[in-house]
Amino acid sequence: MSVTVPGPRRPREDALNKLKPVVTKRWMSPGAWKLDVYEQLDGYKALRKALKYSEGDLISFMKDSGHRGRGGAGFPVGMKWQFVPDDGQEHYLVVNADEGEPGTCKDLPLMMNDPHSLIEGVIIASYAIKASRAFVYVRGEAIHAARRLRNAVREAKEAGYLGKDILGTGFDLEVVIHSGAGAYICGEETALLDSLEGKRGQPRLRPPFPATHGLYNKPTCINNVGSIAAVPHIVLGGAQWWKDLGSENAAGTMIYSLSGRVKRPGQYECSLGTTLRELIELAGGMEEGHELRYFTPGGSSTPMLSADSIDVPLDFDNVAKAGSILGTTAVMIFSDQDCPVVACWRWIKFYAHESCGKCTPCREGNYWMVRVYERILSGRGQLSDLKLLESACKNLLGRSFCGLGDGATSCVTSSLKFFRQDYLDYIEGHKPALFDAEKIGAH
Ligand code: NAI
Ligand code: SF4
Repeated sequence: MSVTVPGPRRPREDALNKLKPVVTKRWMSPGAWKLDVYEQLDGYKALRKALKYSEGDLISFMKDSGHRGRGGAGFPVGMKWQFVPDDGQEHYLVVNADEGEPGTCKDLPLMMNDPHSLIEGVIIASYAIKASRAFVYVRGEAIHAARRLRNAVREAKEAGYLGKDILGTGFDLEVVIHSGAGAYICGEETALLDSLEGKRGQPRLRPPFPATHGLYNKPTCINNVGSIAAVPHIVLGGAQWWKDLGSENAAGTMIYSLSGRVKRPGQYECSLGTTLRELIELAGGMEEGHELRYFTPGGSSTPMLSADSIDVPLDFDNVAKAGSILGTTAVMIFSDQDCPVVACWRWIKFYAHESCGKCTPCREGNYWMVRVYERILSGRGQLSDLKLLESACKNLLGRSFCGLGDGATSCVTSSLKFFRQDYLDYIEGHKPALFDAEKIGAH
């Protein structure tokens, strides 16, 4: 099934009501990345308020707010803070700013437009878990974002929000902005820790989780940029306010990154649980002449859904019920003119390239899946190739060392479920081959 979503001159009222700029509210204010402008826009008020709470009360408050991680897994933030043992040994806060999931573009604009909200969130979170050193691991290619954050850290330090005896409370904190090693796998939390320690970024075995054995083998709390940048807003607005912004069982707002066949792709901050139909309306409708056929709710590592799911509320539970994962809310929108077999081939090439090579199922499985896709797309595929893809996915899912291997199977299994006929069209010669088999060496 494919669905036409017209682009009304103005989205319907119920779609417009889903737009809730909180984390993105300063993005349109000129110069909001500078401290003086940030302060005029309520900046660092939340820090002053948070420092009046005890550390334990702050953690309980965050648990009450129902705030869940914005990096993909949706783990409750307050619970993560609570995991860090309060036993006097050195421990750290690490912010994962290695945004790399295909289709995802929420953390980079946030760091560019409103870096102080992240730094303010880092100070509040570090205070809650009693950490005196925090690290922000920024994706290697994003030199501009790292520069902007370093500037924000310098300004915050000069103003007494960072360093020794913050705002006269006796709390000390140093923040290090670290430029990453430019590999997708360094966004996996344990590979990130290895990379931060100066080693080659490869995942570690979990458990033990970083909460007890993290950076330099010390207890470490790792949160995503979006999770931490929301903290000052939640502290100011209150736990109930944050809950009310979302929908049942899904507190707060989320930045949905829309890309693909819509008229106005971009970041839309809406209540958690906004549907794809509403998002497409907010984005001006589908591109002229295109009908929705399938989409990813949260990046290429989440199973694609067909147009039938257009009215599924995009929150953690409802997306899971529909057979996918909310992930990073990187909503990639494909039309009747976008072949799902080609889309999967491109993604599998990405995973094969980014596989760190540590474990056999992922290293070999992704390499061979690329070869099978190229055989199918060059018109030399056989019916048995579909079984081969399914069997490769079975050997990857749950048998890989980290989430990259599991995530790679999502597009293959979901596209075979919804769009088997598209594969058969290449195999049976109903669709023209995409490549010259001889040229790419497809056998
Ligand atoms: P996970 O569910 O294994 O873990 C989530 C978090 O909870 C981790 O920080 C983990 O340390 C912690 N945790 C889980 N169980 C715990 C326990 N028993 N004790 C202490 N801590 C515990 O998910 P994972 O592998 O960290 O992330 C997967 C997600 O990341 C995927 O859903 C994907 O959407 C997303 N992702 C995001 C990317 C991005 O660019 N933002 C890139 C690639 C994937
Ligand atoms: Fe490396 Fe892939 Fe294994 Fe993860 S699943 S450890 S990325 S080879």
